[in-house]
Parts: sequence; C-alpha cells; structure tokens
Amino acid sequence: MHKFNELLYPWYQLNQRELPWRGVSDPYLIWVSETILQQTRVSQGLDYYGRFVKRFPDVNSLAGAHEDELMKIWEGLGYYSRARNMHEAAQNIVKVHNGIFPNQYDEILKLKGVGEYTAAAVASIAFGLPYAVVDGNVSRVMARYFGISEAVNTTTGQKLVREAANELLKSSLKSIHTGIHNQAVMELGALVCTPKNPGCGICPVAESCHANLKKIVALLPLKNRNLKRSVKYFNFLVIEHEGAYFIEKRTSPGIWKNLYQFPLVETPSELKDDEIINLPEVKQIIVWSGSSIVNISQVYKRVLTHRDIYARFIYMRTSGVMFTDKNFFKVNKEEISNFAFPVLITNYLRKSGILPGIR
Ligand code: ADE
Repeated sequence: MHKFNELLYPWYQLNQRELPWRGVSDPYLIWVSETILQQTRVSQGLDYYGRFVKRFPDVNSLAGAHEDELMKIWEGLGYYSRARNMHEAAQNIVKVHNGIFPNQYDEILKLKGVGEYTAAAVASIAFGLPYAVVDGNVSRVMARYFGISEAVNTTTGQKLVREAANELLKSSLKSIHTGIHNQAVMELGALVCTPKNPGCGICPVAESCHANLKKIVALLPLKNRNLKRSVKYFNFLVIEHEGAYFIEKRTSPGIWKNLYQFPLVETPSELKDDEIINLPEVKQIIVWSGSSIVNISQVYKRVLTHRDIYARFIYMRTSGVMFTDKNFFKVNKEEISNFAFPVLITNYLRKSGILPGIR
C-alpha cells in the first residue's frame, strides 16, 4: 500500500466529519450530496441537502417535481443549472432505467449534468467501483504531496493530478472501499491541506509530502490565472400596483435561468439617480401609468464566478394598470415568497421590508 494511504486512513477514521450522507450507499442520495457539494462548501450545503432529500427522497419524487418548487428549494445555492440538470436526469432515469439509478460508471456519466467528478464519486461511494475522484481538494493535495509543478487548471496539470490520484486508489484497492478512499483524500484537502494556512503541523502525511519537505507548500498548487471577469449593471424596476408587484421568469440560457426577477433594464455602466429616472424604460412607465418613483435603492453587489453584478432597485408606485408586451405577471406581496429569486433580489426584498427579515 502506498505510504500516503497508510498514513491517511487511520487519520480519516478519527477525524472525518459526521455528515448526513456518510455511511449512506443509496446512489440517489450520494448523487444529490455530491452535486450540491460541487460548487458549495459543506457548511452551506448541509441545510440544502436536508431540505432537498426531505422533499425529494428518491428519483421518482424528483422526476415528478414541479420546476418552480425545485428552484425554490435551490434558491440561494447558486449555479442553478445543477438543479435543472438533476431534474432532467431524474426524469431520464425513470424513463430509461425504470427509476433505478444506473450502477455503471459510463451510464452514470451519461446523466445530464454529471461530469467525471460526480460520476466517480457516485460510482465509488455507492458501488465501490475503482474510479478516483478529482476535485479542487484532491488537486491541491496531489500537487503538494507529489510536488506537481504544472498549473492544476491546465490539461497537462489535470492529467498529472489524475494519474497521481489513480495510482493512490489502485495501491489499496484490495484493502479499502474505493468510496472511503476517495472521501478520505477529499477530507484531508478540506480539513488540513487547505488553500490558505494549511495545517502541516497536524497533517498525517506531512513526513512524506514533497511540498512540506521542500518548504514550498504556500507555492502549490500553481494556477493559470486567465479567468476573464465581466461586470454587469442591473436596474430592477419594482413596480407596485395595489400591493402587488410585476415579476417575470428568466427563461434565457445563462445565469439565473428559471428564477424570477423584476423587470430588468441592463445598462453598460452604473447610473446616478437622475440618469436612472431618465431611462426610457422608466420614463415610459411613468408616462403610461402616472406612476411615481418612491425610492432608488443603494447598490447591491454580487460576486459570481465570472461576473460582478451591481444592481439597483427602482421602487415605483403606479395608479393604473400597466400594460406590457413582456411576460410580466402580478403577484401579491404575500405570494412573493413562493417564487425563487436570485440572492441579490432576496437581499433587497428583505432589506426593503417587502419580505420579512432584516431591515
Ligand atoms: N467534497 C465533496 N464531496 C465530498 C465528500 N464526499 N467528502 C468530503 N469532501 C467532499
């Protein structure tokens, strides 16, 4: 057995976190937890996981879910395509696999939204199949332990990480369940071999870790920084008419698909109050319906992976009914909380007192 594994397993036995999906072998539950954890920290994912599996305990219940309810449960978790893809995958499992979760890696990989990471996680944890998982935690641990000096977000770097992870998994195939091995490596990355301030002093594999021995832990893993960020300026029109508001469903591909929003005017830069008032879209509503602007909110900022979003909310009260050619519909204040909104909008709704919460 590889030295790394010999040192890792006893540590994992003692130090692993108690998580609701640990000790579970139902592939559906593993799939849900691993999909949530793909882009979400465990601490944040726990509540969502609990609510998700309570409402959708199996493939059939998820397949039969109403999309709005699914999005409401996912509200705030981000990367909403994960929920939409799971919905489609569940329906596919019902149709193609008679509702039984596939037990082969290649079949799992074919499910909508399932990439190599999730397929390996489900195949190993639920079925004990020999597939090594590679995620951010594993990449960091491999880069440091083996001293991989290629950037881990490049094809070559990922290949080296993958080879290292496979070698470790293979070296103890006969002695340990592959799901436990995979989770132990991820757990080391999550709890000890952290991006900042790693706990080399308490690390079970420190004695044979390349980066620790060479004192280059802080330098690894290397990453190519070529992420282009874009900035968006959103002006949401919160149009109140007799205690109700106009909202629409975002249906175009991209961020927030299938979530709800107020009528949106996107501008190429951040506007001052008087510029907002003079926006044609705003003026038109004022002329049409004799509305007045009650207030213009502060700027709400939301940092997503590839985007910074700056949003302001223009609260308008109308006396007449507004006609539009878009898909807006009116919801009463009390019904607002039934719809799933992006976090940025929920923050505004709470702060402005439209939804109960902090003011
Ligand atoms: N990160 C994602 N999935 C994990 C798991 N099963 N155990 C530990 N960390 C994880």
